[in-house]
Amino acid sequence: MGYKSVKGMNDILPQEIGIWQQIERIARAIFESYGFKEIRTPILEETGVFTRSIGETSDIVTKEMYTFTDKGDRSLTMRPEGTAPIVRSYIENSLDKTLSDTEARLYYLGPMFRAERPQKGRLRQFHQIGAEIIGSRDIQFDFELIMQLDRMLKEFGLKDFTFKINSLGCAEDKNKFSKKLQDYLKDEVARLCDDCKTRLEKNVLRVLDCKSEGCKAVIKGAPKMQESLCKDCVLNFATFEAMLQSDGIPFETASNLVRGLDYYTGIVFEVTHPKLGSQDAIGAGGRYDNLVKDMGGPDVGAMGYAIGIERVILALGDDIKLLKPDVVFFATLNKDARMKACQIAEEIRKEYNDLYKTNIITLIGGAGSASLKSQMRSADRNGARVVIIIGEDEIKKGEAVLRDMESKKQESVKFSDIARRIKRC
Ligand code: HAM
Repeated sequence: MGYKSVKGMNDILPQEIGIWQQIERIARAIFESYGFKEIRTPILEETGVFTRSIGETSDIVTKEMYTFTDKGDRSLTMRPEGTAPIVRSYIENSLDKTLSDTEARLYYLGPMFRAERPQKGRLRQFHQIGAEIIGSRDIQFDFELIMQLDRMLKEFGLKDFTFKINSLGCAEDKNKFSKKLQDYLKDEVARLCDDCKTRLEKNVLRVLDCKSEGCKAVIKGAPKMQESLCKDCVLNFATFEAMLQSDGIPFETASNLVRGLDYYTGIVFEVTHPKLGSQDAIGAGGRYDNLVKDMGGPDVGAMGYAIGIERVILALGDDIKLLKPDVVFFATLNKDARMKACQIAEEIRKEYNDLYKTNIITLIGGAGSASLKSQMRSADRNGARVVIIIGEDEIKKGEAVLRDMESKKQESVKFSDIARRIKRC
């Protein structure tokens, strides 16, 4: 009986890692080009960081957090999301003063933990790519972030995704509407599901995105959020819609989109993909203009989004196109040949001193006295561009046979010239 990984927490194996690294590379390149800087916060935070921000009555806090008491009797939680820790760090490290004169542009990549019931696209350890702009309430940032997200998903190779957008209004609008909705639902309580009966008292907006048919029917007749928005929020949302239209970003206005985290006010959004089934959100985000102040920081606006990497990979499905690395394979016929191959491989790696861009991989075959035939098969399987063959004769002559795997042409090249020659063949 062997050990298994914890339910809902997967290994990412070497044969799967290519697409992960590609997604991460694209994300970093895009963030950097928008002037974002990476931030890495710890996996563990004091539990209050999450209860205060995501909300005491939210599903994440009440049901899904991995929370434990450590040996110092402190309540700690494995981060279920990235926004609250970043706000904590922004305040603790005075990033408003040290990082930028205007707004802090931050991005992160890493694992998040939620004790949800695992299913397709829903894990207990999953990975997010996220962005936060902290320091401004200007609508231009909402637009910039949506453009960035749209661009990023396209660069990953995704098609057919849809933006769903809504405005929850400012804090006053949100409170006003919550009361109105509560009054309406109190008369309909018998028709609500058990979860929504609790939500009615504790987190009434979540009734709006309940999936049960009975609740959906009740919601049809409910007051509309848009009717409770103040003039500024109406104007902001209209400007946002017009910006998306002018940039050709397709979107739907989803008046019942409320999001599961309490910190949101103003514009919120989700990106969904038809290939994902019931867990159809690839990414989501919105404004949280009161959170920084609520957590003890300056009174600045903020907004951001996060993408679920596992869901991006699911949505890509057969459309995954990996950028091919340049593989150079050494077929070696004895121990001396293998030692020589090690030396030449190192010269090749040095010659490619822009290693990180050219992405060259050198593989040395022949261990365990594998035959030339089986080494050539292995070179093929690994997608080699060139095979460098070294045997007894080659060692004597001080040169190797270079075989171009596409043209099938072969030539002899002096050992000392191989590294330079590889660049050209
Ligand atoms: P969220 O909607 O809770 O928002 O999560 C963002 C994305 O993470 C989801 O759209 C989904 O792709 C992925 N995700 C969430 N839970 C799971 C899970 N159990 N398994 C797999 N993937 C999952 C947030 O986390 C906010 N912090 C986003 C944000 C940033 N808002 C402002 N800034």
